[in-house]
This record gives sequence, structure tokens and C-alpha cells, in this order.
Amino acid sequence: MRSWRVCGNEEKYLKELLNGGFPGKSEPGFTGRLEAEFAEKFGVKFAISFANGTATLHAALHALGIGPGDEVIVPPLTMSSTTLAVLHAGAKPVYADVDRETFVMSVESAKKKITPRTKAIMPVSLYGLPAPVPELKKLGLPVVEDSAQCFLGSIDGKLAGAIGDLGSFSFQNSKHITCGEGGMVITDDPELAAAVRRFSSLGYGQISPEPGKSKIDKNMIASPETIRHTHYGFNFRMSELCAAFTLAQLENLDKFVAMRKMCGEAFFEAASGCSWLQPQKSPAGTVNSFWAAAFCLDTGFVSWEDFHKAMIAAGSDGYYGAWRLAYHEPALAYLAADADCPNAEYLQSRMVQLKTHYGSEEELDKEVAIFRQVIKHFDR
Ligand SMILES: Cc1ncc(COP(=O)(O)O)c(C=O)c1O
Repeated sequence: MRSWRVCGNEEKYLKELLNGGFPGKSEPGFTGRLEAEFAEKFGVKFAISFANGTATLHAALHALGIGPGDEVIVPPLTMSSTTLAVLHAGAKPVYADVDRETFVMSVESAKKKITPRTKAIMPVSLYGLPAPVPELKKLGLPVVEDSAQCFLGSIDGKLAGAIGDLGSFSFQNSKHITCGEGGMVITDDPELAAAVRRFSSLGYGQISPEPGKSKIDKNMIASPETIRHTHYGFNFRMSELCAAFTLAQLENLDKFVAMRKMCGEAFFEAASGCSWLQPQKSPAGTVNSFWAAAFCLDTGFVSWEDFHKAMIAAGSDGYYGAWRLAYHEPALAYLAADADCPNAEYLQSRMVQLKTHYGSEEELDKEVAIFRQVIKHFDR
């Protein structure tokens, strides 16, 4: 039986590609169609597709001219790609603490970490909750939104990813929409868009940020005189196969987000009377897109492991803990020296992160009932 997450035109578009072949470089193809629809959905001028949501962050930093000697402010409580992308750009990640209630970057902490070398702030919209980008923008530095986990989350009606100077999304398998691996950068700035596109496409000077508008034709490709690389770049492009699949997923984005919200809200509701499970708090005007339903297990009488064991024993498919803080990973431990993030340290070992992609209400109801029962068991 096909997964509920593959419920639209995926097969139809892949067949179109099989029958029609791969388009030439000057034709929009499925990547062009996907980019145009993504830009429209998020209300921005440019969307540039990528092979993954780590390369997107690297390209966004490169487009801002960030390199060796520069600092970028990031949170430590997230998947490590945010830190790695800063290192890929040759810059230094500087850690701002997260807020104890929202789990996303604290504006106060970010402000304290600014030095003359700071060139950008890269907050993460963790677990689907938009980071406080409007407030961070007031600090006067470019903001790159890592929105890998946040599709259609919003602040005062403005979509996460489209608030900062550049927004980055991931289509990795666990995300709201997927093609296995993929990513997207969005921006309204034509120069940043051009730089992002060139960087993702080997530094080709003729490539346009807008789909189907590249000045590449057969004569140009054939001529031995043609100059290709006006800039330095990587090949970070998304394949047509992934784009065909992602386009079909994008058409159902509203449905996937609604499903995640329904699951997230059901878990939040189930824990609503419990004083020791603190749900991720949405500030006024902020809409959570619930990539996961996240709680801080804030009690001395049951450990993360014991709560987890009790959930599994009761028949749940379990939950996840948070990633180690980036600077506590062995390869990144040298970044820990001046990190000073007490809230992130506190939350990391206590995070309960429940899945929000159940395919049916029956499955969800079963998980929510187990969650309720286990809370009741430990409650005093
Ligand atoms: C917050 C965050 N940033 C970046 C990434 C990197 O995306 P990708 O796996 O597509 O490289 C992910 C997830 O995978 C993520 O969760």
C-alpha cells in the first residue's frame, strides 16, 4: 500500500519525465515549475531549488559575502547542519542561547553575542515554531532563516522563511514535504537570488535566478570560446526527478501541514493538565507548523529514559530526544569554549519530541491515548 505521504501527482509527474526526457538547461522543466510554484506559495520573488537543506544554508551565507574571519550567530539546540553550514562558508559559528519557553533563539542572547565580526544571524524555526525573526531583524544584521522544519508557520500572518533576508527549507524525508533529499532558498532580493543560483550551479555566469531565463543555448554550449565560470561555485542543484516529486508534494502542502497541526495540537491537549510537561510555547501572533510536538520534561521524579520506556511498554512507537547541542558533538567540541547557553543545556536533556506525521486519525488517537495514560501513571 502506498504511503499517505505520497498521495498526489507524484507518479503522474515522474511518468511525464520518463516519457518526455530531461529538459535542456534553458528550459524550466520540473525544477522551474517547482521554483515558480514555491515562490508563489511563499509570496516571494525568487525560489531556488537545491540538493538538500544544508547546501541551501551554505549558499545563503556565501551570497551574503560571508567567509573567513566572519562570525554568524546560530542556536546550539538544533540539528547540526546550521553550525556546519557556517563552517562550510569558512566562518565561525557563535552560539546564542534559546528561550526557555519557546525553545527558539533568544533575541536578548543574540544581541549580547554581536561583535564587529558578526555578519549574519541564522535562527532556526525549531520543531515548526517560527523563530522571532522580526525582532532579530531589528538588531540590524542580515537574517538567514533556517526553516527546514517550518512550512507555513507564521508570525503576524507572514510566513516563516519569507521574513528574513533569505529563507532555507529542507525536503529531507522527515520534513513536511519531501523528495527524500532536497532543499529550497527563497528571497525577494534579485542580487542575493543571482548569487545563490550561481553558487548552486558551479558559478556559471549565464545562469538566471529565474527559472527558464538562463542565457544558455546550444551555440553557447558548443563554442570553444564560451566563458562559463564567472564565479566560484558548487553543484548543489536539485535533480529533475526530485523536482517532479516535490512539485506533487507542494500541491498537497496545506493538507500535510493541517495533518501535522492536528497531531501536534492533540498531544498538547493531552498534556494540558500536566504541570511537569511544558509544551513549546507559541508567542502571540505566532503559528506553529508542528514538525514535531515538543515538550520539556520538567520534573525531578521521572527521567527522560523512564518516561520513554513507559511509553514503549504501553505500545507507543516512542518519541525522540533532542540532538546533542552542536558544540557537544565530538567534531565540534572546539566551539564550546565561549558558548554559554544555559537554557539550551537545560532543555536538551529534557526534550520530548513526539511525531506529528500519523497517517490516520486511528493511529493518532492510539498514540494520544497512550500519552495520556503514561502521564496519568507518573502524575502526582
Ligand atoms: C533545522 C535543520 N536545518 C538544516 C537541516 C538540513 O537539511 P538537509 O538534511 O536537507 O541537509 C535540517 C534537517 O535535516 C534541519 O532540521
